[in-house]
Amino acid sequence: MRIYLDNAATTPLCDEVLEAMLPYLKNNYGNPSSAHQEGRTAKAGIEKARKTIAVALGASTSEIVFTSGGTEANNTAIKCAIRDLNVQRIISSAVEHSCVYNAVNRMGAQNVEVVYVTLDKYGRADLQHLQSLLSSSDQKTLVSLMHANNEVGTLNPIQKIGALCQQYGAFFHTDTVQSIGHIPIHLSDLYINFLSGSGHKLHGPKGVGFLYINKTNSIGALIDGGGQERKVRSGTENVASIVGLGKALEVAIHALEKRQEQIEKVRSYFVEQLKKHFPSIHFNGDYQGDYLFTVLNVSFQTATPVNMLLFKLDLKGISASGGSACNSGAVKGSRVLEVLNVPEGYHSVRFSFSHHNTKKEVDYTIEKLKEIV
Ligand SMILES: Cc1ncc(COP(=O)(O)O)c(C=O)c1O
Repeated sequence: MRIYLDNAATTPLCDEVLEAMLPYLKNNYGNPSSAHQEGRTAKAGIEKARKTIAVALGASTSEIVFTSGGTEANNTAIKCAIRDLNVQRIISSAVEHSCVYNAVNRMGAQNVEVVYVTLDKYGRADLQHLQSLLSSSDQKTLVSLMHANNEVGTLNPIQKIGALCQQYGAFFHTDTVQSIGHIPIHLSDLYINFLSGSGHKLHGPKGVGFLYINKTNSIGALIDGGGQERKVRSGTENVASIVGLGKALEVAIHALEKRQEQIEKVRSYFVEQLKKHFPSIHFNGDYQGDYLFTVLNVSFQTATPVNMLLFKLDLKGISASGGSACNSGAVKGSRVLEVLNVPEGYHSVRFSFSHHNTKKEVDYTIEKLKEIV
C-alpha cells in the first residue's frame, strides 16, 4: 500500500484529463501552426483550453499564454516586465518559490533594485510595510508575491495587495501555482497584471502551465522563435498537455467544493490526531486561519533528521516531503522555514493532500509516525 501525501509537489493525473489528452497524442498530431486540417484540429484543442482557463479566471482568451510550466510563466512575467515595462524596482518576499526568488535575485544582479517585504510569523506579507515601500519611491515597481505558499500553505491577501499596487501605480505579479483550481480566483474582483498557473498541481500533466497577462500590459518574448502564443512564447505548442491543463482546470473548478470538503475533513482529522499523539508538535504557517487546505507543515521535536524521517516514512509506504525537493531528489534546508523560525531541535515535514486521501490513511500515517519520530 502507498499513501501519497505530497500533492504540493505534484498530483496524479485524473482520468478525464488523460482521456482528453489521448486523441492529441495519437490521431490529432498536427502542428497547430499548420493551415491544413490536422493543424487546425490541433489548434482548436489549444484554443478550447485557452477559453476554459480564460472563463475560469474571468479573463479574455487573448490574455492567456501557454508555457512549459509555472517556472517559465513566473520567469516570463518577472524578466519581461522588467525589460519591456520599464520596471526599475521589484518588491518580493523571502518565501517565494525558487523560480520567483531566483529570477528576482538575478534581476537584482542586473541593476534592478530588489526589496523584500517584511513577513509575519506565518510568512504572510506585512501590508503596512508593503504600503510604506510602495509610497517611498517614484521608481516603476513590480510587486511579485505568491498567493499560496507551497511549503506551509499560508495565503497572501492578493485582493489587498492588488489594491495597494493599483493605488501606487505598481505592477502586480502573483504566483498562483498552488492555489489555482483549489481557491476561486476571479480577476474581475482583483487588480493583477500577471498571474501564473501550472498543470501538474491540479491533476493535470507536468511540463505545461500558463501566464495571464493583463491586456493593458504588453510584454515581448522570453523565448524567441516562430512567434507562437501571440509572439510571447515561441516553440511548437505542447498540444496534448495544453488540452490536459484545460481539462484539469475545468474538472477542478467543477469539483472544487466537493474536493475541498473531502480534503478539509482529512486535514482537520490529521491535525487533531497529530495534536493528540505528538503534544509537542509545532505547526508551521497559518494552519488554522487563511491557509491553503491542501498543505500542512509540521515540526516534530525529535533527534531524527528530516531526511531520515522521510526515508523511514517512505519505507513504510508513505510519501511526504521536507523543504522543497531539489532536482536531485534530496531535501535541502528550507529557506521558507528558516524565515518562519522553527524551534530549535525540531524537524519539519510537509504533508499535502488531494481528494484521494482518506481518514484511514491518516490513521495509518499516525501509527507509523509514532514508530518513527
Ligand atoms: C508556488 C510554486 N510556484 C511555481 C512552481 C513551479 O511550477 P512548475 O513545476 O510547473 O515549473 C511550483 C512548483 O513546485 C510552486 O509550488
